[in-house]
Amino acid sequence: MIHVLGNSANMDEAIKFCKKFNLILIEDCCESLGSHFKKKHIGNFGLAGSFSFYFAHHICTIEGGAICTNDKNLANDLKSFRAHGWIRNRSDRANFAKKYKLLDEKFLFVTTGYNVRPTEINAAMGLSQLKRLDYYLNRRDAVVKKISRILLKFPHLEIIGLKKLNNDKKQKKNREHSWMNLPLLYKVKSRPKFLKILKIFKKNNIETRSIIAGNIVHHPALKKMKFRIGNKLSVSNEIFKYGFMIGCHPNISLKAINSLKKAVSECKNI
Ligand SMILES: Cc1ncc(COP(=O)(O)O)c(C=O)c1O
Repeated sequence: MIHVLGNSANMDEAIKFCKKFNLILIEDCCESLGSHFKKKHIGNFGLAGSFSFYFAHHICTIEGGAICTNDKNLANDLKSFRAHGWIRNRSDRANFAKKYKLLDEKFLFVTTGYNVRPTEINAAMGLSQLKRLDYYLNRRDAVVKKISRILLKFPHLEIIGLKKLNNDKKQKKNREHSWMNLPLLYKVKSRPKFLKILKIFKKNNIETRSIIAGNIVHHPALKKMKFRIGNKLSVSNEIFKYGFMIGCHPNISLKAINSLKKAVSECKNI
């Protein structure tokens, strides 16, 4: 399950659901580094949690990410998966070497695998940013706060998740939202007017994006997959039709903030 755009999901519900249907819980935390649920960092609730350090995320190692798990076997298998399926980085490699004496342990393959090994350069970038993560997250809060004040002039645009804005800078475990982007919802629900808003943002050099996939079932990739729709997906459709994201970079420029102010004042006239 995914913690979307910094917003930690309700893990009590998720755990209950997984127990009920006998499911393994894996958390995708790629958009929510630094976010907690009831004071516990996300990614620690199930078998494993994944994190992305691709740019536009909270820290950036150019490409790459991390997976956390307390399961030693999974950790070992992941180390094989990321490197061709061989045993070199496994803590239990001696067992395999002993069992397959005929094979060269440097080239002993126990599974299919990929080549997604992180480099020293990626790690150095990530580790140095990790030390400043709280600073970045606090800066992102400040940017969201600033943008929320600008949007008071056009309250038809609602910041999704604003009520989870973190006001407690000292207690980082209280953070239940680590803003990655700023998702906005146009509450008037008029498509022509919504499209005008996007145009105004573009004219003012403010990049907008759909809120991730909007509603994934509308995408052609889904045509190739078997799936069942459980209900009307009315919330996903609302987000698909009337939602968009803008950035909330910790070092946003004054020029960008002024462009946003201008765009918002133009939106008032649509
Ligand atoms: C929820 C989610 N999962 C996975 C990914 C993929 O991460 P990566 O690009 O590091 O593979 C992303 C990327 O933005 C994401 O937002």
